[in-house]
Amino acid sequence: MSTEQTLDPKDWAELRRLGHRMVDDALDYLEHVRERPVWKPVPDSLKQAMRAPLPMEPTDAALVYEEFRRDVFQHNMGNIHPRFWGWVIGTGTGFGALADLMASTMNPNIGGGDQGPNYVELQTLSWLKEMVGFPAEASGLLVSGGSMANLVGIAVARNAKAPSDVAQQGLQGATRRMVLYASSETHNSVHKAMSLLGLGRDAIRSIPVDSEYRIQVPELRRAIAADRAAGLHPFCVVGNAGTVNTGAIDPLPELADLCQSEDLWFHVDGAFGALAKIAPELRPLVRGMERADSLAFDLHKWLYVNYEVGCALVRWPEKHRATFVSPADYLAHLSRGMPAGPIWFSEFGVQLSRGFRALKVWMSIKENGVKNYGRLVAQNCDQAKYLAGLVEKEPELQMMAPVPLNIACFRFAPQGLDDSSADRINEEILYGLQESGTAVPSSTMLRGRFSLRVCICNHRTRREDLDLLVREVLERGRAAIGTAEVPAP
Ligand SMILES: Cc1ncc(COP(=O)(O)O)c(C=O)c1O
Repeated sequence: MSTEQTLDPKDWAELRRLGHRMVDDALDYLEHVRERPVWKPVPDSLKQAMRAPLPMEPTDAALVYEEFRRDVFQHNMGNIHPRFWGWVIGTGTGFGALADLMASTMNPNIGGGDQGPNYVELQTLSWLKEMVGFPAEASGLLVSGGSMANLVGIAVARNAKAPSDVAQQGLQGATRRMVLYASSETHNSVHKAMSLLGLGRDAIRSIPVDSEYRIQVPELRRAIAADRAAGLHPFCVVGNAGTVNTGAIDPLPELADLCQSEDLWFHVDGAFGALAKIAPELRPLVRGMERADSLAFDLHKWLYVNYEVGCALVRWPEKHRATFVSPADYLAHLSRGMPAGPIWFSEFGVQLSRGFRALKVWMSIKENGVKNYGRLVAQNCDQAKYLAGLVEKEPELQMMAPVPLNIACFRFAPQGLDDSSADRINEEILYGLQESGTAVPSSTMLRGRFSLRVCICNHRTRREDLDLLVREVLERGRAAIGTAEVPAP
């Protein structure tokens, strides 16, 4: 018997028993999710438990698991529940969770090299390219999510279109200020990326939108011309395939034409909307997306893959690699052995060490098939339209935006109630829905007014869940009128 220490268990049979129990608990948890409240406030006992002192000595794994099961497991965000529709948050699947267990068991580092997981990611990327209509020669990588995918795309745009060698000199060598264009509805991850890339949020021209929340192309043209006349350097247009607020889709073919004629990089943020492409009836909505120079989209949103996984695709592999590669002797590719793999993903993104997030995507796509995903994406859009139909039938409710995809924004606004009282009531309705564990929509401001926002990236939602939501909104809204907070109109 070796006297050296290891983290392996002394008794594998014991860990195996615990593992089986954990898998049983995990599957029970998912099977019965509909019976639980969507969300519960985190109790003080959990907060207190998470202030425990640093453990210096070992604790039995079964006890550690028990503590997790008792405290944390019961206080989920709620996004696995059929009535979670907040922000743009996906549901995950049981098989995806099991895939994560296997990925974590293999525990590879997919910076690169000749290892099975590297080929799985390559295979997954080719499927994803095919799904969104990108050429097979495009490069890409799986990332943590849409924010990182936007960062990757805009970083390549910056380096490819800069008037100087940004990879080498940074922006210190830039002779002219670079400017990016995006609609005022663009997700804040684009702003974050611009800030991180040293270009700054001030270098974003926020272009106004039309009544359907789509970028106004004539305004965009005017802004580009004005910037050129002022000696600035326009370099990129970001088009939205599904804005975060309302799911609006910018006129992508027009943006592609404009970028071509103006020699600008065309980046599309298709965080969820890109996957409209796999639903035959929705595909025409995102026409033009396939002409992008780079495309960002998520798999943890509308492909319902477990967190976290997004994808960045770039039409020009050499420009993509040139943005991130930074040779080092200790990372030489070599011609044989482990380092001689087909690709080093670390040369296409920020991370050197990378987890095996490809496995859950690869296994899920195989398990479900793209046609099934297409039907689910269309189902979510039909459900959002169904909700809009329910809202429109109720005189006390008001739709706040069109429903091009899977997002419906509305509010309780009976006649005679002034706007700011209605704002307060809708905020109360939102708190009530969440705190009672009934449903979790989120909120946004549309036309300056507080709106309830239902975004369905959920393969568990049924129409009856939306019926319940509307009933609850009406009841809560009516009950709030005439209270001390909001006097009757
Ligand atoms: C349009 C859009 N872009 C980007 C993002 C950021 O994606 P992630 O949360 O995966 O980083 C989101 C998130 O909701 C989004 O809706």
